Amino acid sequence: MKGLILAAGRGTRLRPLTHTRPKPVIRVAGRPILHYAVENLKEAGVEEIGVVVSPETEKDIREALSGREVRYVLQEEPQGLAHAVAVARDFLGDSPFVLYLGDNLFQKGIRRFLEAFRPGVSAVIALVRVEDPRQFGVAVLEGERIVRLLEKPKEPPSDLAVAGVYVFTPEVFEVIRELKPSARGEYEITDAIQGLIDRGRKVVGVEVEGWWKDTGRPKDLLDANRLLLEELSPKVEGEVLESELTGRVVVEKGARVVKSTVIGPAFIGEGVVVEEAYIGPFTSLGPGVRVVRSEVEYSILEDHARLENVALRLQESILGVGAEVRSRNSLPRAHRLILGDLSQVELA
Ligand code: TTP
Repeated sequence: MKGLILAAGRGTRLRPLTHTRPKPVIRVAGRPILHYAVENLKEAGVEEIGVVVSPETEKDIREALSGREVRYVLQEEPQGLAHAVAVARDFLGDSPFVLYLGDNLFQKGIRRFLEAFRPGVSAVIALVRVEDPRQFGVAVLEGERIVRLLEKPKEPPSDLAVAGVYVFTPEVFEVIRELKPSARGEYEITDAIQGLIDRGRKVVGVEVEGWWKDTGRPKDLLDANRLLLEELSPKVEGEVLESELTGRVVVEKGARVVKSTVIGPAFIGEGVVVEEAYIGPFTSLGPGVRVVRSEVEYSILEDHARLENVALRLQESILGVGAEVRSRNSLPRAHRLILGDLSQVELA
């Protein structure tokens, strides 16, 4: 069994963060989203892993995965999930494979989907019960068998949405070859699965165990960060001086927490400086971040972001790599903003 992780998307819903970096390398609970995918595949016994990258995402994805043994497959343009699979035909060969969307997170891994894959089954699809299925691919089940799939239906026939892990036999390539682009101009994996069903093949739905998260929008990133931090094991390797750490807190090596209060779960990455500050629950600070005389909670600060002398607590915020928020005490008292395209600021 081989594994194929897709990481060649545009990530439009996460702009401006994705103007400069691909979504799967954004850190949640201190680690790039992609690391969790590779780990879940390995844990399920998948040894050979391919990662589909685009010309724009390749460099960052390679950097995030350096030291890990994976193969890279180039998709020139993000023409859809089924297109990404077709592009990886040579890598996948005639082996059954797991398709894993590189921006998805599964609390309990993906083992159960591989276990449901057996002779006579053409595909296994991970399904998850959701409150509002209208924005997902939705499955109609008869027993364990999926008899119909609908993409973003206005009147969903069930609450079972398609999550981002699939197991396929190579027969799917034959179906993909016959696909036409959808209304949004993409080769859809749901159409490929429906193609298998139309051929009378057995497509099995297996419900996700534990939580599942698709990190498509900023609020999903914050939520994923919260869910992963819930499982954090405390560890202090950095320096903590005249500070109070409460609950599950990780302070990585080279980090300095001085005259501050940290309430976990919280992740403080390598080389971070926290000084006269408050770090509240569900906060992750990436490597090299500085938080000085400021307060932050339920937030993600990416590598080398800075928060300095800000009077009001930052909440539900994401600062991209190197982003800075600071106050100056000089007059006139005014907001001075230099924001990249599509940045969002909500002032209290
Ligand atoms: P999507 O979430 O559908 O797309 P996206 O990541 O580009 O985000 P947005 O909709 O905000 O623009 O993609 C799911 C995963 O699949 C994601 O990790 C990117 C990857 N992908 C590819 O590798 N190739 C593709 O052609 C597409 C559409 C997505």
